Amino acid sequence: VCSLPPQPQADKMEDGMGTVKQQISRLFKNSLSAAFPEESSVEPAVAVCTQKSGDYQCNNAMGLFSKIKGKTKEFKSPNAVGQAIVRNLPPSEIIESTSVAGPGFVNVILSNKWLAKYIQSMLLDGIEKWAPVLSVTKAVVDFSSPNIAKEMHVGHLRSTIIGDTLARMLEFSNVEVLRRNHVGDWGTQFGMLIEYLFEKFPNWEDIGEQAIGDLQDFYKASKRRFDEDPSFKERAQLAVVRLQGGESRYRDAWKKICEISRREFDLVYERLGVHLEEKGESFYNLYIPKVLEELTNKGLVEESEGARVIFIEGQQIPLIVVKKDKGFNYASTDLAALWYRLNVEEAKWIIYLTDAGQQMHFQMVFSAARLAGWLPKDDNETPKVTHVGFGLVLGSDGKRFRTRSSEVVRLAELLDEAKDRSKAELRKRLEDNGKLADWTEVELDQTAEAVGYAAVKYADLKNNRGTNYTFSFEQMLNDKGNTAVYLLYAHARICSIIRKSGKDIEELKKTKSIVLGHADERILGLNLIQFAEV
Ligand code: ARG
Repeated sequence: VCSLPPQPQADKMEDGMGTVKQQISRLFKNSLSAAFPEESSVEPAVAVCTQKSGDYQCNNAMGLFSKIKGKTKEFKSPNAVGQAIVRNLPPSEIIESTSVAGPGFVNVILSNKWLAKYIQSMLLDGIEKWAPVLSVTKAVVDFSSPNIAKEMHVGHLRSTIIGDTLARMLEFSNVEVLRRNHVGDWGTQFGMLIEYLFEKFPNWEDIGEQAIGDLQDFYKASKRRFDEDPSFKERAQLAVVRLQGGESRYRDAWKKICEISRREFDLVYERLGVHLEEKGESFYNLYIPKVLEELTNKGLVEESEGARVIFIEGQQIPLIVVKKDKGFNYASTDLAALWYRLNVEEAKWIIYLTDAGQQMHFQMVFSAARLAGWLPKDDNETPKVTHVGFGLVLGSDGKRFRTRSSEVVRLAELLDEAKDRSKAELRKRLEDNGKLADWTEVELDQTAEAVGYAAVKYADLKNNRGTNYTFSFEQMLNDKGNTAVYLLYAHARICSIIRKSGKDIEELKKTKSIVLGHADERILGLNLIQFAEV
């Protein structure tokens, strides 16, 4: 389920501004208020036309008819209301013709001349000029957000790819975006890690990072120790308390572990060309007591089985905000983070990307925030929060994507494989064409990276966000069909056609005007101008 960004009212924009739909809506807004001045609250309901009879349609007639039926004798049917809407449309270069179908659907066919003019402007002035106009100016996109020292898995890859895409779309639409990496850097796992480090390497400060070595292996070893030895477990739990109490030895070890983890994450982000700003869970720790105090004063927090919880109407289980052992948890951190984003960062739209399994958590956090009066009751008003959930990545066996030894796939290795496979394919093709000698090793690498990483991203994005999808290198690196490889190939071909034409494209843009003569050109044109709207 996709939640649309808040849109400004069409009539608050100037002529010629906004998406095609917004521009047409503006015309119908005028028509509606001219034809039905008593029904001033009616907003134009404009949509892309699903039938051949129009490009867009206005669907207000039926609703309006049932509103005015008793009040006036002037209109005998919804169709008559539709006719009145058409009669009152202000003159405009946008519209070629209109027709009223069945129970009053007003179909609009756009003028070819105007379409061509629009595309010409996209070409000359740049597509940025046609970015959608949103009513939010500042947003937080909380994405990627792996957990320190634990594996960064394909779920985090999906979050990274989809989150980056949403952030880019908002940035394109002139929204200031805070790209937040809400890394899990404050969990109970640190007690175990630090205690294990101190136990195995009492002098770890002298050895430094080498003591830890591979962080994932280190995590596994300490987890084994934690599960096997109750006295170690106890010490590990104490270590969390000492860390959270701010003891310097513990904080130093914590910092070092975070640093190693961060470096690994950054390598992945760099390869994917994704930019993020880290504000991990630990950052919000300071704010939790005050936020919980506020929620308690508002009467939302109560005692339940030794824990402190918030009951949400319609939910069986409450949201736990202070655990039995008095510790804070994922939910208390998310409440504090939400408070911070709303009040300190003043974000108007906060978007969270995690797999669909966390939907309930976010719903409860959002409900609590609504109860506290932090968020408006109406979902369409700002500030607004959205959880963007996504499906799992599956292996060819239909189960969660794992390596053969049933371990979580390391993202760095996954990207390596995508690159290696596309490099091998590239090499083979160049060899077949007798062109391998023309390429340097660096060029081969760069091309293999561009194709390989793009293939991974595109395969993720082309799938329905909500459903699970099966990860397959063969499919994503296929050069035929709906893949990044095919798109890159098509782009390269277009560049080659332009090159071989010997024409100066910038000159052509300025001197020639676009004419949509052929029916296919018109369809293409219509799709192009709907870019911002889509
Ligand atoms: N670290 C979490 C995980 O790996 C994701 C965090 C998402 N963001 C949030 N504000 N809770 O599942």
